[in-house]
Amino acid sequence: MLPGTARAWEFMTKTAQDLFGRYGFEPIYTPLFEHTEVFTRGIGEATDIVSKEMYTFEDRSGRSLTLRPEGTAGVVRAALEHGLAAQGSSAKLYYAGPMFRYERPQKGRMRQFWQIGAEVLGAAEPSTDAEIITLLVRFFESVGIPLDRMTLLLNSMGDEACRPAYRERVRQFILQKGAELCEECNRRADTNPLRAFDCKNPECVAVMADAPLLRDSLCDECAEHYESVKRHLDLVGIAYVEAPRLVRGLDYYTRTVFEVQVTHGLGSQNAIGGGGRYDRLMQEYGGPPTPGLGFALGFERTLLALEAAGVDVGAAPRTDVYVAAVDADVRPAAFVTAARLRDAGMAASLDHQARSLKSQFKQADRLGARLVVVIGPDELASGQVTIRNMDTKDETRAAVDDVVVAVRSRLG
Ligand code: HAM
Repeated sequence: MLPGTARAWEFMTKTAQDLFGRYGFEPIYTPLFEHTEVFTRGIGEATDIVSKEMYTFEDRSGRSLTLRPEGTAGVVRAALEHGLAAQGSSAKLYYAGPMFRYERPQKGRMRQFWQIGAEVLGAAEPSTDAEIITLLVRFFESVGIPLDRMTLLLNSMGDEACRPAYRERVRQFILQKGAELCEECNRRADTNPLRAFDCKNPECVAVMADAPLLRDSLCDECAEHYESVKRHLDLVGIAYVEAPRLVRGLDYYTRTVFEVQVTHGLGSQNAIGGGGRYDRLMQEYGGPPTPGLGFALGFERTLLALEAAGVDVGAAPRTDVYVAAVDADVRPAAFVTAARLRDAGMAASLDHQARSLKSQFKQADRLGARLVVVIGPDELASGQVTIRNMDTKDETRAAVDDVVVAVRSRLG
């Protein structure tokens, strides 16, 4: 990340720290790589991520390790290992950092990309689903994505009571329509039939439009949960579009899934964030039944969406005041003055290359300094400096000893 992008990343992570903190989330940082099993078990062997996209390697003692393709698996693994949501307690955690997937690179899709994510462990209530969805939407609003360019898609994936029978119906449907579907979708019939809803092939999309929908065969508990999530979103005015074919690319989901897509600037990789509930994931790792849910958002895609909307994030560092030295003799005094201004919390710059006074003023202008403190030999001898206002061109004198107070009061 070059400085312009890195500043945008810092702006987004700071926004997340502030906003997520207000929702009661605490930071967690998990390793960039884990035992491969953490991901294969959690995300699912038959997903694209695990079967095609992981960076897996052996370490010197022959253990299989994998660069994390996403953040949830590591957070849940760590929470179990350290008892973060033990015995009926709950944990609200957020993270930010790079993820790795061996995907075909294109606009908005890279092999190392950056996510900001949040997970709630130990919360089963549908109001938590609505809370975390609200948080995701508010984040995008806070960084500047216009509301009319985002669509929140919502669906329920059911649970172990209603999904297996539905999965079987989709399998039968795929087998029946096999001739009209691509090879991959045919293969999916046995490994992961619901993934066929995610196939980008236009013929498959057309065929799958007639496939049975889980919405019509949710069990009573899942249907009630889904209705309650929607009611809670309505209460806080979060607009959503029901997307009965939204399945998402990870196997750990139960019940609620959601995705935020943008309408401009991203082409086919238009999902800037997504997530859902994963009530069985902790058990997959051998832990006690612990419901969970969360989301992750993609930094690069969010940035592209912001650029498309003409929003400039991550402004360059500002210079409040420039300290100019008239000649070589007063340079040490300029050096000390800049240090004092910085220690007092102001953004100060100065020249280290013995430039002429004229080019120091040019540089002050380029840096956008509002004031220039000019240190000259005669004035310094009488314990004074000149402070020039770069907008009005007014010049005033101040005592060297009072320069911090004088500059601060002129900056307002
Ligand atoms: P995901 O949908 O795979 O979910 O990724 C979340 C976001 O990461 C996507 O919406 C997208 O913006 C970004 N993203 C994914 N792959 C790439 C890529 N190759 N290049 C650039 N951006 C990408 C998860 O990762 C889940 N862990 C979310 C979650 C958390 N579910 C529950 N808790």
